[in-house]
Amino acid sequence: MERTRFAAAVLAALSATILTLSCAPLPRDVETDPAVQAEQKRPDFDNRIEDHSRRMLEEGRETFRYDSFGSEDFWGQSLRLHEAILGVKQGGAGAGLTPRQALQAGLKVDVGKVPRLLVEVLREGAVSLDNPETTLELLRADAVVGVKGIFDGKRMTSVGITCALCHSTVDDSFTRGIGSRLDGWPNRDLDVGAVVSMAPTLEPVAKLLGVDEATVRKVLKSWGPGKYDAELIHDGKGMRPDGKSAATVLPAAFGLAGVNLHTYNGWGSVTYWNAYVANTQMHGKGTFFDPRLKDAQQFPVAAKSGMWNMRALPGQDRVTPKLAALHYYQLSIPAPEPPADSYDATAAKRGKSLFDGKARCATCHVPPLFTEPGWGMHTAEEIGIDDFQASRSPDQRFYRTTPLRGLFTRAKGGFYHDGRFEDLEAVTDHYQRVLGLNLSAAERGDLVQYLKSL
Ligand code: HEC
Ligand code: HEC
Repeated sequence: MERTRFAAAVLAALSATILTLSCAPLPRDVETDPAVQAEQKRPDFDNRIEDHSRRMLEEGRETFRYDSFGSEDFWGQSLRLHEAILGVKQGGAGAGLTPRQALQAGLKVDVGKVPRLLVEVLREGAVSLDNPETTLELLRADAVVGVKGIFDGKRMTSVGITCALCHSTVDDSFTRGIGSRLDGWPNRDLDVGAVVSMAPTLEPVAKLLGVDEATVRKVLKSWGPGKYDAELIHDGKGMRPDGKSAATVLPAAFGLAGVNLHTYNGWGSVTYWNAYVANTQMHGKGTFFDPRLKDAQQFPVAAKSGMWNMRALPGQDRVTPKLAALHYYQLSIPAPEPPADSYDATAAKRGKSLFDGKARCATCHVPPLFTEPGWGMHTAEEIGIDDFQASRSPDQRFYRTTPLRGLFTRAKGGFYHDGRFEDLEAVTDHYQRVLGLNLSAAERGDLVQYLKSL
């Protein structure tokens, strides 16, 4: 009773003050910040934020799809990959790369970039997919996803790669391997090892790793479709101790906004990883600094090559000016929604309750991000697997909780960082054992339908 009366008195006093304040003359002793004064003479700042946002998105998309960052000096000049594409007849080496072989290696063609005339003749089957000259024509049109031909007039003099090589695919709307771009979707058909092995020489890679070329070829061959090893070039681990491939499956590069750490073992933020990849993996010309890689125990190759501290020549940094917009574009790519007929909606609804409750999935895969806000890292033991890949990151211990949206785009090649689980049934069976869950077969089935619906 006493307390209510007190509260009422305070309220009355407060409203009286507010009333007096609102009737009082405008403040006299408060000055406008000179920066704000200058700002008042310029266009509306809100509009500028929107313009900036649009520009960042467009620039970032351009970079993601088409920027080779000067990597042609490595793929072309050093490995002479363009010569293998051209073939002897067109001034290169070997038989040349036919479009059919390119598609078989998992490379994709953006139909929107193919010249109209070529689309017509391709449709009529009048142009041979077995002619390397057609590959050249596609490259000239910038239509081979992630592969950037460098031309001097009609002549292709070199070749570089872009982010889209591994992180975009196409919707096969024209034919298998040819269609509209799907940025952020992992290209699980792409055999990166096979593409790199096409190069007439791998000597520069062998030299860097301190092994012979045959060993490099063996490691590249061990990867297979949809896989790549982004750490080999620093720790020199070509194979796992059990003799299996050390490569990881290509991850989704969509739905990453709101997610703190990236890569399967959490190397850093999206923009950290972009600088890492553009410089150390694609061999672009830029700046990259990470003293954690100086550790000769864990990263003997990086410590020796100096790749922990890469510096472009003054005025020649082709990566750093691109990082901001590239980051922005990636965060703008939403996770795609699975086709409605690809799962059973009623079962998925039951599966959601299990995911959020009894199966305990949501303790780590927190919706709607499906990873933990904060520092979403777990030991190998917690998720019941070996620690080989976890031990390859600078903190040597953890796996990051994978965001689960758009799982249907990465069913090919398997789940978990190395694709060890063939399908989602195998994943839920694994959790049943590791987490000691008590889910019936029907419940596990529902859980799988829910995962398919994400
Ligand atoms: C040769 C294939 C390849 C190319 C080219 C490539 N990446 Fe990746 N990317 C990978 C692989 C493999 C991983 C997973 C690495 C790991 O976990 O060890 C990855 C991881 C990522 C991730 C983390 C995804 C997540 O789940 O957190 C992002 C973001 C990313 N790449 C963006 C890029 C950008 C931007 C570029 C261009 C600058 C690029 N990548 C070029 C293969 C590639
Ligand atoms: C202790 C935290 C934790 C719990 C609990 C957990 N997960 Fe995971 N989950 C992870 C981590 C970490 C990974 C990454 C493993 C890897 O890539 O090797 C992962 C990966 C996955 C993947 C593979 C994603 C991909 O793209 O390969 C699926 C699917 C998945 N979890 C589903 C579930 C389901 C279903 C449950 C509940 C039964 C569950 N998780 C419970 C931490 C957890």
